[in-house]
Amino acid sequence: MKILVINGPNLNFLGIREKGIYGSESYDTLIARLRAKAEAEGIELECFQDNSEGAIIDRIQKAYFDEVDGIIINPGAYAHYSIAIRDALASVTVPKIEVHISNVYKREEFRHTSVVTPVCDGEILGLGLNGYLLAMDAMKELCKR
Ligand code: DQA
Repeated sequence: MKILVINGPNLNFLGIREKGIYGSESYDTLIARLRAKAEAEGIELECFQDNSEGAIIDRIQKAYFDEVDGIIINPGAYAHYSIAIRDALASVTVPKIEVHISNVYKREEFRHTSVVTPVCDGEILGLGLNGYLLAMDAMKELCKR
């Protein structure tokens, strides 16, 4: 099973940005945790991070040709307004899980809407970096269907 994890803008700044909200663990630590779990469970894992919308769309489209089995995506702020990322996700029919580190519903109102959620199978939010690991477990189940 091949899973692609996509992180959007500013998530490369984990451990630096707003530690009270996102914690003090770095992006590299997150990836190391994901890789350790993937290795232990025999999952092929690809991780991608970019700050720009176009690069994220290109990566989602590439997943189609790479025959990825599932996509886990934290679109960062793009979740709240990128119809282009939503359309890219909608065009790839594999299971998709949206992740947010913080509980966006406890934050500013502009974070309460995600245009991406309706084209994903599920969403995990507010559970910190663990959310990505939980998404991997959920993805294994979704891929069995
Ligand atoms: C975030 C929530 C977004 O509102 C914010 O713009 C981010 C991170 C999260 O993981 O909690 O960059 O996606």
